[in-house]
Amino acid sequence: MPIALVVHGGAWAIPADELTAHEQGVRTALMTGWQLLKAGGTALDATEAAVRVMEDDPTFDAGVGSFLNAVGKVEMDAAVMDGRTLDVGAVAAVGRVRNPVTLARHVMATEHVLVVGEGAEALAEAAGLPLCDPMSLVVPRERMRWDAQQLDPHFKLETSFRGHDTVGALALDRDGNLAAAISTGGTPNKLPGRVGDSPLVGSGFYADNLAGACCATGWGEGIMRVVLAKHAVDLLAHYDPANAARVAIEQMGARVNGLGGCIVLDYSGRVGFFHNTPRMAFGYWCEEFDAPRVGTTAR
Ligand code: GLY
Repeated sequence: MPIALVVHGGAWAIPADELTAHEQGVRTALMTGWQLLKAGGTALDATEAAVRVMEDDPTFDAGVGSFLNAVGKVEMDAAVMDGRTLDVGAVAAVGRVRNPVTLARHVMATEHVLVVGEGAEALAEAAGLPLCDPMSLVVPRERMRWDAQQLDPHFKLETSFRGHDTVGALALDRDGNLAAAISTGGTPNKLPGRVGDSPLVGSGFYADNLAGACCATGWGEGIMRVVLAKHAVDLLAHYDPANAARVAIEQMGARVNGLGGCIVLDYSGRVGFFHNTPRMAFGYWCEEFDAPRVGTTAR
């Protein structure tokens, strides 16, 4: 079976002086996951590894570098899905875990699908995952953004949300199994306890060996309303991945004025992505290509 991997580092108005960091970040994530897949690793392992790289990279709104919520704290969401079994593991509103995607993988090994807050952090401790000082996730860029938001009486989340966003990865392994992994610090200045699309199966992510896989990025309140990721996977019955991604995002824009993007991978290893934001950071590699394709596409 030909292998394939696609990653993204968010869809937003990435400024010119951050393009290189985004491209380098998605390239490193892609290469990390690709080496695992090439060596016969599973799609789940490859997607988790790729997302961990982006959680550790302060360029992205995931793990270290996450947005701060309205009270100046980091609260992160993450998930993984196995397209072979439809098993899901997800966490939401965690603040003391450096790699939430790995904690989501631990949830997948329990009887549950989604664990939040203190319960999720207790699970991390029980699983032997290191807990971190939440302040170690806060970078100066986000502290400055938060400070500026507190001084802006007109700050409004929907209109201001052009900021960093969710990271995600999809893979197809040698055994023909698909997987999805996703991680985010959510939206800037969000209410404490606010949960976005990323840990919600069908909204932020989906993977089914019988059809394909999708990871969404963008304004979660729009993505959740149209259950974007499952919708994009269902569209694969009628469209190739590029057009499934395009139709899903265009419908979200038309129906709920949603902003974002998505990556799509079908069961045969074809890749697509689309965004209605100014830019999207992406990378993909399919076995038929000599080299990875990485960029920050503009529209
Ligand atoms: N798409 C990430 C969020 O809205 O939380």
